[in-house]
Amino acid sequence: SDLCAQGKVAGQRVFIRADLNVPQDDTGRITEDTRIRASVPCIQQALAAGAAVMVTSHLGRPTEGEFKPEDSLAPVAARLGELLGREVPLVANWVEGVDVKPGNVVLLENCRVNKGEKKNDPALAKKMAALCDIYVNDAFGTAHRAEGTTYGIAEYAKVASAGPLLAAEIDAITRALATPKRPLVAIVAGSKVSTKLTILKSLAEKVDQLIVGGGIANTFMLAAGLPIGKSLAEPDLLDQAKAVIDAMRARGAAVPIPVDVVTAKAFAADAPATVKASNEVAEDDLILDIGPKTAAQLAAQLREAGTIVWNGPVGVFEFDAFANGTKAIAEAIADSPAFSIAGGGDTLAAIAKYGIESKVGYISTGGGAFLEILEGKTLPAFEILTRRASA
Ligand code: 3PG
Repeated sequence: SDLCAQGKVAGQRVFIRADLNVPQDDTGRITEDTRIRASVPCIQQALAAGAAVMVTSHLGRPTEGEFKPEDSLAPVAARLGELLGREVPLVANWVEGVDVKPGNVVLLENCRVNKGEKKNDPALAKKMAALCDIYVNDAFGTAHRAEGTTYGIAEYAKVASAGPLLAAEIDAITRALATPKRPLVAIVAGSKVSTKLTILKSLAEKVDQLIVGGGIANTFMLAAGLPIGKSLAEPDLLDQAKAVIDAMRARGAAVPIPVDVVTAKAFAADAPATVKASNEVAEDDLILDIGPKTAAQLAAQLREAGTIVWNGPVGVFEFDAFANGTKAIAEAIADSPAFSIAGGGDTLAAIAKYGIESKVGYISTGGGAFLEILEGKTLPAFEILTRRASA
């Protein structure tokens, strides 16, 4: 983007790594195109600046060297063409050379099918770097992977730079965590503590309130000595959950434990739902959502927050009877004057379900990449660009 503004791009060959890894149904139809839409500004800027533009992405997790029809970016090329208002030719077997003229754009077929992409083979990276004058990484969603098109090519390209989406995502998330308007409230929910333990530990050092939900909350309830019946939990992680609670308390911060929950006797959409106080959960109960008192308490805290980071629904929101907690959280975030950041597949689905897209400060296109930033990690694809910029 800076390069475009500086007028350095006209007539140059620009290789853009985007994350166009979008969900598709069995027939190959794209079911959700946020990532394609988010990639458009970078491509448009390069085209407007007169570059010869090559764009690539991975799609799924194909076997290297074995291209199958379902690995093809063809549906993505069609959708990108609609969004750009021009045809986007799809180029197969592009590593040895690409024919594209200034002012035109082509999409290079699924880069993960190329041998050496996943393990970042320098021979492949050098060939790809030779295709372009300028390499631009705009793939935030893949920035946690050090692969040929996200890392190696950035080492060898004449010029390597971050695209506007990658820059904006890193900037929004790091600013929210490094210099937040307080109180900083994080919601970390989902089925398992184990998958989010590093995030919980990292956030326990930064946030003023750490709201846990879903199966994660069950483990924390257990750690607080509450009964959880036959709810999903990880008893071997009780000590870790206690350590997170202690770390928060030592800083004068809190992990609110649900005061009431919505229970059922079976995990099913039509299972009768019963609200219970947290200390009254029976042995054959399954906790499937936070209760209305808890939801109201948390909503009040979210309305007072300065910054909110949201990852994960607090209940089984796919089932209407157990969706009220997640709906209340979503609505409280929408109403809150706080700057909010949300990311992760389930969270995005909840945001769409409750129609609060325009009320969230920043919605990340990253899944794993978003989680790794919350863990406090530096994303390799960003690290190499920073290194190139300072060299
Ligand atoms: C994602 O969907 O999270 C990114 O596109 C990365 O995909 P990957 O997990 O297959 O590397």
